[in-house]
Amino acid sequence: MKNTPIILDCDTGVDDTMAIILACVSPEIELVGIGTIWGNVDLDLATQNTLNILAMCGKADVPVAKGATKPINGSHQDFAYFVHGDDGQGNKGMKGKYGKEISLSAAEFIVEQCRKRPGEIELVPVGPLTNLAVALKLEPNLPKLVRGVTIMGGTALTPGNVSPVAEANIWHDPEAADLVFRAPWPITMVGLDVTMKTLLTEKHFEQMRQAGGVAGYMARISEYYTTFNEERSFGKRLATMHDAIAVGIAAGLVKAKVSPNVNVEVDITSGPGRGQTICDLRGIYLDFPAQKNAHCQVPLELEEGFAELFTARICGAGEAAVDIN
Ligand code: BDR
Ligand code: CA
Repeated sequence: MKNTPIILDCDTGVDDTMAIILACVSPEIELVGIGTIWGNVDLDLATQNTLNILAMCGKADVPVAKGATKPINGSHQDFAYFVHGDDGQGNKGMKGKYGKEISLSAAEFIVEQCRKRPGEIELVPVGPLTNLAVALKLEPNLPKLVRGVTIMGGTALTPGNVSPVAEANIWHDPEAADLVFRAPWPITMVGLDVTMKTLLTEKHFEQMRQAGGVAGYMARISEYYTTFNEERSFGKRLATMHDAIAVGIAAGLVKAKVSPNVNVEVDITSGPGRGQTICDLRGIYLDFPAQKNAHCQVPLELEEGFAELFTARICGAGEAAVDIN
């Protein structure tokens, strides 16, 4: 299979770390670079965490470009330290600081790379969509220059996780998300419909602990996050792997069994629907007939086995290339 060139865009907390490690160790993926964004944590911390994880995986040569510190309309921002820990690494991150970001911004980096390699690159934003919205403003032709956009964000038929209807990445910057969903590029919206159902268990984390090295680090930083998942979502020790699933889908490591191509709109009102991704699933009883102008696939059900594939990949990541104590 041909490698998929990917540019990730991360607000690097715990599940973003899962996504970055998976991208580093998967031979199906060419990790072209990573943009960073505020979201789970502030921009500086998201950037340092990203640089550290790449260094740990022996991929310090992958460019990291800093992005937005706040939503595109400049309104308020908030963070999710209560989910990812004060260090965005479950309060058990490494002490060292490795690497340095490049001088281009995340949006400039996206535009530069997509101009260089028209039609090749899959953008995989797994944080708020501000950097992609800025990139669209810099290069209105960007939708023609990418292979596609696989977004971790939104939800169609499943409740939200920051409001009854909104998922965090969209809710952080609905105006940016609105621009991104309106742009005429092929989108895959990897939302809570699938990410709340494909979960890591203690058995998977035990395998990672046994493997040690990079996998041991992944298990170590996931404890706090798993406790949050236990208390707020599942009532047992299960962990979501939202961002890693987006990477898996983008690179064909896991396929959707049901993924209609439908119209999606983002609610940018200030009412209770703010940040909702309104997906037109009215065709559900007719096997989703084609919709005019639809360009967004919405996976509703995945093949089994991704948590096991992910665990096996992470367990094969080997020793850390830097001191992770
Ligand atoms: C998404 O929000 C962030 O907290 C996670 O990293 C993930 O990208 C889940 O709603
Ligand atoms: Ca994220």
